[in-house]
Amino acid sequence: MQRFSLVLFTALHSPGTGWVSAGFDPVNRMQGANYILAAVTPGGLVIEDHFGTGTTSHRRDGREDILRAAGTASGGQTVVEFAVPLDSNDPEDKLLIPGRTYTVLLAYHRSSTSFTALHTARGSVEMKLEE
Ligand code: HEM
Repeated sequence: MQRFSLVLFTALHSPGTGWVSAGFDPVNRMQGANYILAAVTPGGLVIEDHFGTGTTSHRRDGREDILRAAGTASGGQTVVEFAVPLDSNDPEDKLLIPGRTYTVLLAYHRSSTSFTALHTARGSVEMKLEE
């Protein structure tokens, strides 16, 4: 049976030209979060699905669950938009349920588009998914 799938549309805007990322629903610091990392490079948008493997580490998921994405960098700023399923059914992603509130980690690098370069700024916000 085909399941009805809800989608989360996200836009990230940074005051830099390096990578940008959101990490949904961490368990402990960076651990357990479902990360989407993106960078606008000279060759175009690079976007990857990652999972928080440790308190300060993450690695690429075995399966990509990004439905759509676009990004631009101009005037020293970056904007990336992407869509992911609320329930991708991938154990390396996080189930997001409408009506609940989640912690979302946010980070970016001022200038490097390499996903192994440590963030130059990071923080977290609470996001309520309206029903
Ligand atoms: C690019 C590879 C990454 C590396 C090597 C890395 C490494 C680290 C390290 C060493 C720390 C502890 C030092 C510090 O507090 O700054 C840390 C903390 C943190 N990182 Fe990352 N990180 C990476 C990517 C990300 C991404 C993509 C996000 C979010 C989207 C993120 C969010 C955070 C947050 C929120 C903290 C603070 C955690 C806390 O103390 O509660 N990191 N990271």
